[in-house]
Amino acid sequence: MKEIISAKIVSNEQIVNNIFRMVINCRDIASQAEPGQFVDLYTEKDSMLLPRPLSISDIDKDHVVLVYALVGKGTRYFSGLKPDDHVRILGPLGNGFDLKQKPQNILLVGGGLGVAPLLFTARKLREMSGNGSNDSRKEVIADNSQGFGTKIVANSSNDPGKELAANGSNDSGKEVIADSRQDPGTKIVANSSNDPEKEIAANNSNSSENEMIINRSNGSETNKIEQSNIIAILGYAKEIWYNKEMEACCDMTKTISENSGSKRGLVTDLLNRDEISSLPPEATMILCCGPRPMLKAVYDWGDAHGIPLQLSMEARMGCGVGICHGCTCHLQNAGGQTYRAKLCKYGPVIKGSDINW
Ligand SMILES: Cc1cc2nc3c(=O)[nH]c(=O)nc-3n(C[C@H](O)[C@H](O)[C@H](O)COP(=O)(O)OP(=O)(O)OC[C@H]3O[C@@H](n4cnc5c(N)ncnc54)[C@H](O)[C@@H]3O)c2cc1C
Ligand code: FES
Repeated sequence: MKEIISAKIVSNEQIVNNIFRMVINCRDIASQAEPGQFVDLYTEKDSMLLPRPLSISDIDKDHVVLVYALVGKGTRYFSGLKPDDHVRILGPLGNGFDLKQKPQNILLVGGGLGVAPLLFTARKLREMSGNGSNDSRKEVIADNSQGFGTKIVANSSNDPGKELAANGSNDSGKEVIADSRQDPGTKIVANSSNDPEKEIAANNSNSSENEMIINRSNGSETNKIEQSNIIAILGYAKEIWYNKEMEACCDMTKTISENSGSKRGLVTDLLNRDEISSLPPEATMILCCGPRPMLKAVYDWGDAHGIPLQLSMEARMGCGVGICHGCTCHLQNAGGQTYRAKLCKYGPVIKGSDINW
């Protein structure tokens, strides 16, 4: 059972009109959080007993980053908090994006505040591809090799000066460790050898190829970890924010907003561009977060193109932990039968095919 923690605020700043970014020092949550999960944030006001659910937008070392819009009483209260103030926080909550599949193309589609959790998602995907990001938890298991018991760990680092090292042998008990750095173009090649005495080769380069190749065992076998193309499709009502941060993690970032000349800043306008709509559906996946009408539009687009989706759904929430039934929504199984599920527990991320629109 998770417990509510009183955590210190590191910073709480307005990033654009009406949108704030709060950084909270909270190691317990930072160490467990997965992209797409959320936290419940509590006020100290008796008139606002219910927590406010906010997506985990990023993790930075022991810090949890939240991005929130000033909407009503609760978020106004949060916007008034200062560094060194404490806030009560519960999390991480819910089920986030399932990142186990690694299709060739991953479309991260975000609208409005839905962009917030996609930064953590992009960073995690980048890191899982063995390409170092500045996820400060650093250690990432890149591959479990091929059943010889060898553990391969890719360790990313913020430190651009850090040398890349890779270690390995055929010894089934040995660990192969590869260190990558923040440069998204870094190529890591780890060579392991049958000879336990043999020195391990590690190679990093400034190659623009985003590739991690691990060559292990006796040389005949090549275990290549394919890196997905991470493509961000971001829609904003007005000001654009987080686009630089997304660009640093993604292979391609496309943004649209009312201010960019488009009538309504619809992400589907970006999805309909040739370079996106021509992606092979069998090698593409959509992870999406945003307001419900946008989720439905993206779902319809994905459905029409035969691309599987995971959607982060929003619902009014009460307890946030599956007790109050306040967040119940209708889902459907493969046979089309509907059932009720608590979004705070089962979601907020739901497979597109499970949603009963
Ligand atoms: C899983 C999840 C993740 C979310 N992530 C973010 C995020 O990263 N950034 C962000 O700005 N907003 C996010 N929201 C929406 C956010 O929870 C609401 O904007 C916030 O609760 C509003 O609180 P308030 O007191 O300012 O507004 P009020 O309107 O005064 O709130 C009254 C009550 O309604 C609830 N409520 C109001 N709007 C929403 C809403 N859209 N969704 C759920 N409950 C709502 C409040 O929690 C509160 O209990 C998320 C919602 C969910 C369900
Ligand atoms: S918010 Fe209480 S059960 Fe989901």
